[in-house]
Amino acid sequence: MAAIQDIDAGTLTPLLKTSFLGRSLLSEAELESTNATAAELAAKNAPEGLVVLADHQTAGRGRNGRSWFSPQGKNLYFSFVLRPSCPPCAVPQLAIISALSIAKALDTPVVSVKWPNDVWMNGRKLCGILSTMSCTSAKTEYAVIGIGINVNIRDFPEGIQATSLALESGRDFSRAEVLAAVLNTIEEDYMLWRSHLSLEPFMERWRSLSMLDGKTITAEHGHETLVGTASGITADGLLKLTLPNGHTTLIAAGDTHIVMQ
Ligand code: BTN
Repeated sequence: MAAIQDIDAGTLTPLLKTSFLGRSLLSEAELESTNATAAELAAKNAPEGLVVLADHQTAGRGRNGRSWFSPQGKNLYFSFVLRPSCPPCAVPQLAIISALSIAKALDTPVVSVKWPNDVWMNGRKLCGILSTMSCTSAKTEYAVIGIGINVNIRDFPEGIQATSLALESGRDFSRAEVLAAVLNTIEEDYMLWRSHLSLEPFMERWRSLSMLDGKTITAEHGHETLVGTASGITADGLLKLTLPNGHTTLIAAGDTHIVMQ
């Protein structure tokens, strides 16, 4: 299958400042899901830092069983393999860090992060992140972090309320440049995280970018929906939700929605 024309190792590599992330690249015109392919390759010993990129996904996966809108030639759909020496419960932190890295790479005041790991611009979703892993009870074999960034798309199907870099800025972007900037920042942040295995060094960044803090939100997990005030995250990446009775509960996974500004 043909590689993506405007992003291949030839265009990406000169823009990379990484030592391992993106140095191994599989770039395909079409895949079902870059997460699925990256996980298959990780299970066959793909190296840490392998990036799998597709111009179009026929079955792009979102969180909680949703699909991810993946039209051809417009956006970025990629997944990478990490092999952190950490307990499996720490792996979701990698998606939180990735959201912070993307926000940093995009370098605009209108960007924000939304727990657990979305990147938004001007009140609309720009980017989604899906992490999966393979582990034993105590050891992480590998993590796959999949990222979809709406880059040059200007029309979304009805029902998808999202935005793109092009819609926010009125111009098109080079997908290779966006991808390289994101990979460069993610590797830097990942190295920092690896030396702490905690979000402690990222807490200030999260606080300054979080769109939920101080707002009344709903947090859905499974069949349960809690309402409360978002009060930040823990250094493990759990959402702190202050309930109407004043107690603060910690939420490990789920969807969040703002009810009141
Ligand atoms: C979300 O629901 O917000 C997460 C969306 C993650 C989408 C990306 S696109 C590249 C990678 N491959 C997938 O199948 N999903 C992720």
